[in-house]
Amino acid sequence: MIRPVVLGVETSCDETSVAVIDGANRILGHVILSQDVHEVFGGVVPELAARAHLQKIDSVVAEALTRAEITLEDVDVFGVTAGPGLIGALLVGVCWTKATAWALDRPWVAVHHMEGHLFGPVLEEPEAEPPFIALLVSGGHTLLLHATEWGEYRLLGQTRDDAAGEAFDKVAKLLGLPYPGGPAIERVAATGDPSRHRLPRPMLRGSQTVEDPAFYDFSFSGLKTAVVDVTRAVGENVDEHVPHIAAAFQEAAVDVLVSKTLRAVTETGCGRVVLGGGVSANTRLRHEMARRLEELDADTGPRQVHHASLRLSLDNGAMIARAARFRFDRGEVAGLDQHASPSLPFPGLLQGSRTAASSRT
Ligand code: KG4
Ligand code: ZN
Repeated sequence: MIRPVVLGVETSCDETSVAVIDGANRILGHVILSQDVHEVFGGVVPELAARAHLQKIDSVVAEALTRAEITLEDVDVFGVTAGPGLIGALLVGVCWTKATAWALDRPWVAVHHMEGHLFGPVLEEPEAEPPFIALLVSGGHTLLLHATEWGEYRLLGQTRDDAAGEAFDKVAKLLGLPYPGGPAIERVAATGDPSRHRLPRPMLRGSQTVEDPAFYDFSFSGLKTAVVDVTRAVGENVDEHVPHIAAAFQEAAVDVLVSKTLRAVTETGCGRVVLGGGVSANTRLRHEMARRLEELDADTGPRQVHHASLRLSLDNGAMIARAARFRFDRGEVAGLDQHASPSLPFPGLLQGSRTAASSRT
């Protein structure tokens, strides 16, 4: 077995996930347990999420070790999401990891959840290496980064209000669709006609220049309000219009996400794009990004869009183990005084970058 063997733990939201990777970054064992208790409430209930993590963490670890055909003593390094996320949920993973690493006298690494998403695609596609432009889109974040190297990131843009995934979830709720909203919207949008309703493209105007503070930033709350207005306007016929409204919303969100990412490609001349986070599971986003990148009239060198498979796009322990390995190799081992932090700052932001704020967590 190639060492170091890294065990990664993810409990920041509603997935309890543990993965074991070896020294060549191959996944040896991986378990993702999605909590279904939240479905009836139409969103994640923090207290229930924390309790469910606590109930399941031991068995999820045991199953990941069994699949990897190793025991806990074979683990060289532990990694865990220390933030951002729901504090009660984070605490379960962090306390488990800290205590286990201490008991076994092994190092442990505190991982930033969104840096974890940045490492998702490279687990499956070795070319998903910097330099690249990264669009990280999840339930709590919308970040546009220029990664010049692993661990060196220039923050170009971020959301000023709701995160992209949050917008999908809220719009789904408005349309009477189940949680999580992203996959539900994608499903019904497939049968809808996006041209039946006109929705705005917030913060996207052709006249914007790179000096404009809104050039790379996102805003999704206005789009959500526009969906409310459209829903009211169709009145009693709302059921019939749900697929069309969902399709129009998805089209507007994807248009903004792709357009801003391509601005970054044009400005930096970096033609490699990495998509990460739950919203990167969206097929329309993936296709449009690839299609419009190909058609872009700019001098960028090789062009390629990288994203992880569905399983590794959503929250998972493998991306956390991979990010932990990177930080471990740089000597960034956590001490007993390291805590879970709901608003952990994004690591490695270069000077001149703005502070990456989380909108929901
Ligand atoms: O990264 P993730 O699994 O958890 C967080 O870190 O938040 O992202 C979850 C978000 C949810 O808002 C969910 O609705 C969205 O990702 N999502 C999608 C799709 N699958 C998940 N959004 C759009 N289309 C999808 N297919
Ligand atoms: Zn995530």
